Amino acid sequence: MQIFREIAPLKVFLVEKRKLGKTVGFVPTMGAIHLGHLSLIQASRNENAITVCSIFVNPAQFNNPADLQKYPRTPEEDTALLKNGGCDVLFFPATHDMYETETIVRFDFGHLDKIMEGQFRPGHFSGVALVISKLFHIVEPDYAYFGQKDWQQFTIIRHLVHELKFNVKLKSVPTMREPDRLAMSSRNMRLTSAQREKAGILYQALTQASALLKSGSTLEEVKLNVKRIVEHDPEIKLEYFEVADSENLKLLNRVEESAKPILCIAAFAGQVRLIDNMFLSR
Ligand code: PAJ
Repeated sequence: MQIFREIAPLKVFLVEKRKLGKTVGFVPTMGAIHLGHLSLIQASRNENAITVCSIFVNPAQFNNPADLQKYPRTPEEDTALLKNGGCDVLFFPATHDMYETETIVRFDFGHLDKIMEGQFRPGHFSGVALVISKLFHIVEPDYAYFGQKDWQQFTIIRHLVHELKFNVKLKSVPTMREPDRLAMSSRNMRLTSAQREKAGILYQALTQASALLKSGSTLEEVKLNVKRIVEHDPEIKLEYFEVADSENLKLLNRVEESAKPILCIAAFAGQVRLIDNMFLSR
């Protein structure tokens, strides 16, 4: 695996590969690599000659400075995991190279970044769109891979790519889960063992909500039920549970309003914020 810390040599390297007709798959991450990230690497390897992974903890997408400061940084472990996972190129830029001057660029995605994650993390998706734009310009991938776990992020990046005419095809990869079905996340390592034991409740709440909706319960009933299940333990605090159309992220009042609804949840386990989602199969 080749490691690049600077932009220019990475671009030269990739230009050479592209000249040889090799396709480039790209997996942007913020590090603390886990099996979820590695499943994106694998998806890229299946479809491309070269797989590039970036690790960059992007300050612009953290609306909470404490969260940025506490975000896990494990470069040695990450490098070993990516190497073993078959990644060809690791791009590990410095903050001052990605943000040479204080940025004044802001993105606005209309209703897409005002709901759910956007409502509780103002400015977050503007920061995501900014760093993804930079990374796409640097790497110029043929394909880029994102996790379904961050479905709102994927939808917003789809809009970004479409509107700004980035020449990249996007792929969404299913969520990798722990044995108790907790979605893998870099933030899970910040959970205490007691919180970790309880965190599986998010997936259970989604599964129950899905079953209730399929058997005809109303969304109001289901929302109350989710709150009851999740907050059964005082250490877990529900932030939101919403059902949206998975294409345009319009929030639904009735599941019949959408051909493919998605159930989305966010909760705090102590200080750690967890999210998850599930498509409603019918
Ligand atoms: P990060 O949280 O490191 O996630 C990087 C990618 O891994 C994202 O596409 C995310 O959806 C995916 N991912 C995370 N957990 C996963 C899981 N359990 N199964 C499958 N895929 C999973 O998301 C970001 O970083 C950043 O916002 C980024 C896009 C890199 C921009 O800074």
